[in-house]
Amino acid sequence: MISKSEFYSFFRKIPKAELHLHIEAVISRDSIKKLYLRRNPQLSSQDADSEINKIFTYSDLNGFIKAYLAVQDLYDSVDDFDMIFSDLKDYLLRNGIVYAEVFAAPSAFINKGFDFAEMTANYHKNIVKIKNETGIEIKMLIDVSRTFGPENSNRNLDLVLANRIPEIIGIGLGGAEVKGPAKDFGGVFERARQNGLFTVAHAGEDVDCYSIWDTIDILHAARIGHGITAVQDEKLMEALVQRHIPLEICPTSNVFTQKYVKEISAHPIKIFFDKHICVTLNTDDPLFFCVDLLDEYWNAYSKIGFNMSELKKILQNGFEASFMTEEQKKSFLEKVEECWRD
Ligand code: HPA
Ligand code: ZN
Repeated sequence: MISKSEFYSFFRKIPKAELHLHIEAVISRDSIKKLYLRRNPQLSSQDADSEINKIFTYSDLNGFIKAYLAVQDLYDSVDDFDMIFSDLKDYLLRNGIVYAEVFAAPSAFINKGFDFAEMTANYHKNIVKIKNETGIEIKMLIDVSRTFGPENSNRNLDLVLANRIPEIIGIGLGGAEVKGPAKDFGGVFERARQNGLFTVAHAGEDVDCYSIWDTIDILHAARIGHGITAVQDEKLMEALVQRHIPLEICPTSNVFTQKYVKEISAHPIKIFFDKHICVTLNTDDPLFFCVDLLDEYWNAYSKIGFNMSELKKILQNGFEASFMTEEQKKSFLEKVEECWRD
């Protein structure tokens, strides 16, 4: 057994990919406080802290989504995104992440009057800046969102298509899984693919495995976010292997939202791995779940029972399951190999 400090220093230096990370949830507590005090200048620092703590209390996915919307509401203009990208850069650097596919959920911002063209111009500016400063590569997936219904998701796709930037490579489907069944979003997914975008979807996070079946059979998503209820159905787990559909697993997130996983040690990720499903490790919402990617690797090692070579495979899966070119995958995987040996 490797000590915790040795484990963290080893994994920090191994280049990693993260494929399931929401940009609005990578903002730091300090930045939230700045935004909160700007909105409520009469509050003392201590009172602001206790008000902010109230936002971060939830015990299920729908409560979490409410908190997520409360945080999104603190942004006053597109320029505020500069702050999240700066926090994203710090997060990626401290976790040794060299490539990330990051979700952005525009619905709440558009509903309050932000201009999507200005938003994408900001994404582009900040992603290029981070690449120049650190070499880290960031791609974006626009969450067309199931919370606000299929019509809204089609409008979001229209906006993506009218404001193409090279950094936006696809769409995702996040939000309230109970309220927005996967089967309602087949049209928007098909249209996205016809226009050269990749498609992924959260599924089997908050409802039973039929949602994952619908996501692979109707949405034809290339990857599944969470997918934990696949454990209910042997045939589904076989289909995920046969059809090469990776799972973006976020163990701590699932413990926070509670429905299917009560504690990390009971997470089904090891069952998926042993059945040869391509699993990747991710944080989902670092701010909300107080978790870094290195913590998820440590949890997988110390609480779920993965050994080092299995963790290496999961880390390699992060690149394999990404939307980068085969050539890029090869180059990143060679770097992993070099660092693992050192
Ligand atoms: N599920 C659904 N919607 C989300 C999530 C999630 O885990 N994170 C941010 N939006
Ligand atoms: Zn998510």
